[in-house]
Amino acid sequence: MRWVAAILLGAMATALAAQAYTLPDEKPVTLPRGAGVELVEAHCSACHSLDYLTTQPRGKGEAFWAHNVAKMIDTHGAEIPEEDAKVIVAYLGRTFG
Ligand code: HEC
Repeated sequence: MRWVAAILLGAMATALAAQAYTLPDEKPVTLPRGAGVELVEAHCSACHSLDYLTTQPRGKGEAFWAHNVAKMIDTHGAEIPEEDAKVIVAYLGRTFG
């Protein structure tokens, strides 16, 4: 059973050699003020950081955000009333579109 010991030792060596990464501290995200920003902060930070919003590619317009907000609701189960979703999409389109 020497080969078993060899495999175990190999696995341990791999585990010990695993790189430890230091991640940068997460900075709180401040969204630009504007109509609807409170709704965005309230609804869109419930499951993940607001930097998911600020790091998206620009120039894709309101349609991109309408699609994205619909995905949060339909696929990820975000509970956002339709009136709020409209205001949020308008804000995001204006600010990050
Ligand atoms: C119910 C939980 C939930 C809420 C509320 C939520 N999201 Fe998400 N969101 C997710 C999940 C899950 C992912 C995918 C996570 C991942 O890939 O790390 C995601 C990912 C994203 C991404 C990254 C791109 C993508 O499509 O994967 C963006 C942009 C985003 N969300 C925007 C929003 C916006 C805008 C709102 C507010 C209208 C919102 N989210 C609210 C769950 C949520």
